[in-house]
Amino acid sequence: MSEINRQAQQLSATILSNKRIGQYHQILLNVGEMVRHCRPGNFVAISIGDESSALVLRRAFAISRVSDRGEYGGTLELIVAPHGAGSRWLCSQGENVELDVVGPLGKAFGIPTTPVQAMLIGGAYGSAPLFGLAEVLKARGCRVDMILGASTSSQVYAPLEGKRSVNSLKIYTEDGSTGTTGIVTDPLRELIEAGQIDVIYSCGSMGMLAAIQKIVEGTDVVHQASVEEAMACGIGVCMTCVLPVAAEDGSVSMLRSCIDGPVMDGARVKWDLVGEVFGATS
Ligand SMILES: Cc1cc2nc3c(=O)[nH]c(=O)nc-3n(C[C@H](O)[C@H](O)[C@H](O)COP(=O)(O)OP(=O)(O)OC[C@H]3O[C@@H](n4cnc5c(N)ncnc54)[C@H](O)[C@@H]3O)c2cc1C
Ligand code: FES
Repeated sequence: MSEINRQAQQLSATILSNKRIGQYHQILLNVGEMVRHCRPGNFVAISIGDESSALVLRRAFAISRVSDRGEYGGTLELIVAPHGAGSRWLCSQGENVELDVVGPLGKAFGIPTTPVQAMLIGGAYGSAPLFGLAEVLKARGCRVDMILGASTSSQVYAPLEGKRSVNSLKIYTEDGSTGTTGIVTDPLRELIEAGQIDVIYSCGSMGMLAAIQKIVEGTDVVHQASVEEAMACGIGVCMTCVLPVAAEDGSVSMLRSCIDGPVMDGARVKWDLVGEVFGATS
C-alpha cells in the first residue's frame, strides 16, 4: 500500500500571524504535532471561507517551513499570493482565526543519502518550499546554491533568514528591478557544463519547469520538479490534477500530481503533452 498521505490529518489550526511581504502574505499557523510529519515538498489543503461564504474546494499551498521549537510548539509557514477568491480570503484573515487544514499531503522532495551539489530553483512564490529544503540538504552535507526568478522585485520571495541557509543566491527579474535582468534558466547551461550541479530541485510555473528540463535533457543532472497543476480534491479522488508521465518502459500514463507528486522526476514528465487531451486523435 502506498505510503503517500499515511500521516495526513485534518485539524483546526490557529493563525499566529499574517504579514505582508512584497506581493505575498506570510501566514504562520499553529499545527501542533503535524509538523513532525511535514517534509519539504509536501503541501496542505485548506478549507476556504466561513459558514456563510464557504467555497466548495479546498486550496492547496506548499508548506514553506515548519518549526517544532518556540513558544507555540509546532508551527507551519505558508507564502500565499492573493489572486483568486480563495487565496484573497485566506490573505485577509487575521490572528487567532481558526483554519480547517488537511496535511501533510503529497510526495516530498527526495533527499540524497550522500552529499551532492544541489541547485534549488524557484519562480515567484515557488521559492517558498525551497528554503526549508535547503536546511535539510545542508544538514546532509550538500552544497546548496539557489536561483530565484520573478517578473519583478515584489514577486521575489527571499527572506533574510532563508538566505543564510544557502551557499549562494542569485536573483533574476525580467524587468531588472532587482538582481540580474533575465530568467532563471539563463545561467543554467554554463553551470551544468562546469560540473557544478548534480541535482536540481525546482518549484514554479509549469513553463519554468519545462524549460529547466529542456536544458537538463541529455546530461547526468537529476531534476526533481514540484509541479503545480490545478487541484480540486488534493487527495487523489477527482483526477483533476493528472499529468502525462512516462514509465521506465517508455509507456505514458496520466498520473495524479496530488499523490504521485507534486514532486516528480522531471525527466519522466512529458512536458510537451501537458494540457493536451491525452490519447485523443484528430
Ligand atoms: C501543490 C500546490 C502548491 C501550491 N502552493 C502555493 C503556494 O505556496 N502559494 C500560493 O499562493 N499558491 C500556491 N498554490 C496555488 C494555489 O493553490 C492557488 O492559488 C489556488 O488554488 C487558487 O485559488 P484561488 O481561490 O485563489 O483562485 P480561484 O480561481 O478562486 O480558485 C480556483 C479553484 O478551482 C480549482 N480549479 C482550477 N481549475 C480547475 C479545473 N480545471 N478543475 C477543477 N478545479 C479547478 C483550483 O484548484 C482552485 O481550488 C499551489 C497549488 C498547488 C497545486
Ligand atoms: S486533485 Fe483530485 S485527484 Fe488530484
